[in-house]
Amino acid sequence: MKICMIGAGYVGLVSAACFSDFGWTVTCVDKDPNRLASLKAGKSPIYEPGLEALMERNVRVGRLVFTDDLKTAVANADIVFLAVGTPMRRGDGYADLSYVFSAVEEAAQYLDGFTVITTKSTVPVGTSREIERRLKAKRPDADVAVCSNPEFLREGSAIQDFTHPDRVLVGTDDLRARDVMERLYKPLALRGSPVMFVERESAELAKYAANAFLALKISFINEIADVCEAVGADVQEVASAIGRDRRIGDKFLHPGPGYGGSCFPKDVSALIRTAREARSPVSIIEQVERVNHERKLAMAVRIETAAGGSVRDKTIAILGVTFKPNTDDMRDAPSLLIVPMLQERGATVRVCDPQGRPQAEPMLPGVVWCENAEDAAAGADALVIVTEWNEFRALDLEAIKSRMAGSTIVDLRNVLDPATVRDLGIAYTGVGRGRSPASQKAG
Ligand code: UDX
Repeated sequence: MKICMIGAGYVGLVSAACFSDFGWTVTCVDKDPNRLASLKAGKSPIYEPGLEALMERNVRVGRLVFTDDLKTAVANADIVFLAVGTPMRRGDGYADLSYVFSAVEEAAQYLDGFTVITTKSTVPVGTSREIERRLKAKRPDADVAVCSNPEFLREGSAIQDFTHPDRVLVGTDDLRARDVMERLYKPLALRGSPVMFVERESAELAKYAANAFLALKISFINEIADVCEAVGADVQEVASAIGRDRRIGDKFLHPGPGYGGSCFPKDVSALIRTAREARSPVSIIEQVERVNHERKLAMAVRIETAAGGSVRDKTIAILGVTFKPNTDDMRDAPSLLIVPMLQERGATVRVCDPQGRPQAEPMLPGVVWCENAEDAAAGADALVIVTEWNEFRALDLEAIKSRMAGSTIVDLRNVLDPATVRDLGIAYTGVGRGRSPASQKAG
C-alpha cells in the first residue's frame, strides 16, 4: 500500500511516521523548505516524545520519504491524505480551508488510477463533499473516492494515541474506498482497536463533537473547582467520586487554567460557527468558549490575590508556558493571557519551560528567561506552576524557598501536596482545594 501524506504538521508527520511503521510506504509532501530540510536531516520540527526515533528507523529502510515532489507522490499513491492546516480564520472564527482546497486542486492534476483521497485534518461538515465536487470539476476523468478520516491523537502522547486509538473513524459511502481503508488500518484492528465506518458527515461532525465535549468537560470541572473553593470542598475528591460513574468517566476532570492548544479553541469556535450557520446553535458550547476565556483571565487575578492583592513592582516566577507538558506548542496557551496581564499590572515575570522557549520567546516579550525552576525562583515574590511538566512535580521546595524573596506558591495544576508546601512555611493556593482567599473570578 502506497500512501501520500500532504502536510508534515503535527497530525501529518505523526500519521506518516506511524503508517510507515506499520509497513506501508509513505511519501510525506511538504512545501515549506525549512521544514523539509529539517525532516530530511532526520530532525522533527516539533517536539514529540519518540517521534524522531520512529522517523529515523523508517527513513533508514526507505519506507518513509520526505519530498516536495507532489506529482510523483500523488501519481503513485493508493491513498492521498490531506493533513494540511485548518487554522481559525481571523475575524469570523470559521475553519480556514484554503490550504485544504489548494492541496486538492494541485493534487488533482496528478491522480493516476483508483485513488482514495481522505481528510486527516479536522474539517467542517460538508468538506468531503466539497472536495469531491472540486475534484470532479477539475478532473472529471479521475477515478477517486473521497473519505473523511479524522485523527484523535493528543500532542505529547501522539504516537501512543495513534497506535492505540479508542476507535478509528472512517466516513465513506464507497465500497472500494472502504476496502482500501480496512486494509490500511488492519494492523490496528488486529490489535483490538475498532475501525468504524460511517457517513462522511458523521465522521466530520464526530471530530468536532468529541473535542467540544472534552472542552465542555474541562470547563465544567473548572467551574466545579470554583464552587469547591466557595463551599470548602476538594475538587480532587469530587472529581474522583463522579469519575467512578462510568457514564461520566474519570478522564478530563483535572481543573486548571483553562484549555489551550491547537485543537480545542479552534474546533470549539468552528463548531459554533457551523452550527449557527446550520441554524442549530450549540449554545452550551458557546458558553464553554466564553467560560474558558474568562478562566485564563481569572487565573491572573488569582495570582495577584495570592501575591497580596497587587503584583506592582513584584517578581513572579512562572513555571511552564506551553499549553500542556511534553510539547513545545504555545498555541492558545493560558500563559499567553496570564503573563501579559501580570506584566500590565506591573510585575516582572521570570519564566522557565523545559521545551517551550524557542516558540514562546517571541510571544512573551519582556520576560526574563531562566534555565530551571530554582533559577526562576530567584528573588520571586510568588512562584506559579502554569504547566504540569513532570519536573515541576518534584521541586526541591526548600531550595526554591531559600531563593525566593516571598513565600507564596500558586499551583494552577494541583501537582503539589498542599500540606507539604504549607509545612515549609509557604502559602499555597491551588485550584478547587478547599476554601481559598485567592479564589476570585476575574472582574
Ligand atoms: C486534543 C484532543 O484530546 C485530541 O483528541 C485531539 O485530536 C486534539 O486536541 P491536545 O490538544 O493535544 O489534544 O491535548 P489534550 O491533552 O487534550 O489537552 C488539551 C487542553 O486541555 C490542554 O490545555 C490541557 O491542559 C487541558 N486539560 C486537559 C485540562 O485543563 N484538564 C484536563 O482534565 C484535560
